Amino acid sequence: MTDTTSRYPIPTSPAETARLRMQADAMAPDTGVLLDRIGVAAGWRCLDLACGCGGITDLLAARVGGQGRVLGLDRDAALLAAARDWAAGLGLASVAFAEADVRATGQPRASFDLVHMRFILSTAGHADATLDEALALVRPGGVLVAQEPDIAPLCCYPRHPAWDRLKGLLEELFCHEPTSLWADGLYQRFLDLGLEDVQYRPFVAGFTSAHPMVDYMPTTIGSLAEVFLEKGMISPQELERTVAACRAHLHDPRTVSTSYMVAQVWGRKP
Ligand SMILES: C[S@@+](CC[C@H](N)C(=O)[O-])C[C@H]1O[C@@H](n2cnc3c(N)ncnc32)[C@H](O)[C@@H]1O
Repeated sequence: MTDTTSRYPIPTSPAETARLRMQADAMAPDTGVLLDRIGVAAGWRCLDLACGCGGITDLLAARVGGQGRVLGLDRDAALLAAARDWAAGLGLASVAFAEADVRATGQPRASFDLVHMRFILSTAGHADATLDEALALVRPGGVLVAQEPDIAPLCCYPRHPAWDRLKGLLEELFCHEPTSLWADGLYQRFLDLGLEDVQYRPFVAGFTSAHPMVDYMPTTIGSLAEVFLEKGMISPQELERTVAACRAHLHDPRTVSTSYMVAQVWGRKP
């Protein structure tokens, strides 16, 4: 029987929904390049697995047109409700959303031209089972795509000890889960799956104090605050003090910050 437990640690909240949206917007230009390199075209049927509050469904919809179909799937009802409101606000007629676990989607086998995942193989564990399900949903000749991060480049300049402390919390929480798959092994895993014409495109994004992503690190830590405190990884006082110091540094007009590296990997199912 499928194990449907998930190790995904980030609780849902309005702030987390806003954080995911901000992140998706910041990564839209590079996601557009990815979809254009793949050649996503009118009429394609696409699936965004673990789409959160919308994921890349808007960018897919813009390419598949009225004859195509885009399905966003997630297990979180609150994020899906936000996704439906957002898609309706944008008039995305070809997009629908479904609630399910990524490892047991209930979707028809071999029925999608493209199946995409972003930041799920790294964060929720059970990467092998998720990949098996995703690949089973791709039609022969269709494309499997994943985008996963490497935290190492996450940096601010000038460097600051508050940033380093918060980055250390993220590394401690996320980087020791043996069933997760991060950027470093993604390309090789796609080769091992037997995919053809496997491609690799990494990117990093940079932010000044005027960019909407200026607060990305503090808000990411805010979304995980309960988890850090429950695990005793930091005291409430130190957390508050460190987030405030990090935020102040990032808002200095002379400070810039760099995203994690995102590895985009895709290949064709034989
Ligand atoms: C970091 S968010 C990324 C959301 C989206 N892919 C994006 O890039 O904007 C991870 C998402 O995975 C979803 N998730 C975690 N475990 C899941 C599971 N077992 N089945 C379905 N969705 C899951 C969460 O609800 C969340 O929306």
